[in-house]
Amino acid sequence: MEVPTLDLSAQYEQISDKIDAALEDVVDNTAFILGPAVEKFEKNFAEYCNTKQCIGLNSGTAALQLIYEAAGLKPGDEVITTPFTFIATVEPLVHMGVKPVFADIDPKTYNLDPEDVAAKVNNNTKAIMAVHLYGHPAPMDELQTISDENDLMLFEDAAQAHGALYRGEPVGGLSEAAAFSFYPGKNLGAFGDAGGVTTDDPRLADRIRQLRDHGRAGKYSHAILGHNERMDGFQGAVLDVKLNYLEDWNSGRQENASYYNQRLADLPVETPFFADYADHVYHQYVIRVQDRDEVVEQLQDKGIGAGVHYPQPLHLQAGLSQLNYSEGDLPVAEKAAQEVLSLPVFSLLSAEQKNYVCDCLADILG
Ligand SMILES: Cc1ncc(COP(=O)(O)O)c(C=O)c1O
Repeated sequence: MEVPTLDLSAQYEQISDKIDAALEDVVDNTAFILGPAVEKFEKNFAEYCNTKQCIGLNSGTAALQLIYEAAGLKPGDEVITTPFTFIATVEPLVHMGVKPVFADIDPKTYNLDPEDVAAKVNNNTKAIMAVHLYGHPAPMDELQTISDENDLMLFEDAAQAHGALYRGEPVGGLSEAAAFSFYPGKNLGAFGDAGGVTTDDPRLADRIRQLRDHGRAGKYSHAILGHNERMDGFQGAVLDVKLNYLEDWNSGRQENASYYNQRLADLPVETPFFADYADHVYHQYVIRVQDRDEVVEQLQDKGIGAGVHYPQPLHLQAGLSQLNYSEGDLPVAEKAAQEVLSLPVFSLLSAEQKNYVCDCLADILG
């Protein structure tokens, strides 16, 4: 049996008539960049996140970059974030000459440990970037308190957490601005690269709208130096259709997660924890296991799309060696990187596939 990491063609089959019609609309009105489909999605996604605005962009990385730029971060400033995330969380900072400062993570939720965040604040610190890793919200109340006490900005990287709730409130509206990725494999994914920022702050939103479009004030009038980071019409159209199914798909992920939790309870693995404040949307279903690399290899040999998110924390990446971290600096993240293993959890997994994954794991772990 094959159990892929993700089955985007099965998802497309579910809704192909609606997607095809929405794409045809874009062709008919030739609004290939921004335009009505993107505007409609921006409005609906802002509403979904309980924010005043959403700005459609061409990737999650662009969303992070434009938040950092619009916030006015300057070379020499510092932003505290987690080392246990995808590199895009910090890439734009390094390009801007802003220093990412890593705080260690909570071993259960894999999100920022507020105590270590507080310990890393200094006179150069300007912001905290919280990452809702795997679909589990970060501890926003504690991070907000640290921000308030030190006059810092607080942002969210919600690239893996569309629809996750923190104390009943959707992520994306829990800070000054949030970055979303709509990479095809995300819980809400486009048909190519796409991203967006949600915010309640009109000044930040205006600035990001201007920055995404060459700093334009008029067609050939450029008030500031900007970028070309606009969302395509086709992506807006696809995302606006898919947004209607996000709640169902997230529920499917949650059901799959509870099936795994039950079936794996007696095996020598640690199943995902969720804090009492959290509605986890399982972008990844992550267990901890000893001899992880060997277990992953054996699962893959049996046709199961097991993965590792992430095998190396950011502070030990060669591409970030200029930050001068060493092994042992962030021990909780380093240990997690050795033990985490992601199982396929997408909503359209069949009962047979889930059963097969659990049987195989039981077999491998003896
Ligand atoms: C936590 C996190 N941040 C940022 C990104 C970047 O998003 P994109 O690939 O759309 O640029 C991703 C995507 O993988 C991510 O998982």
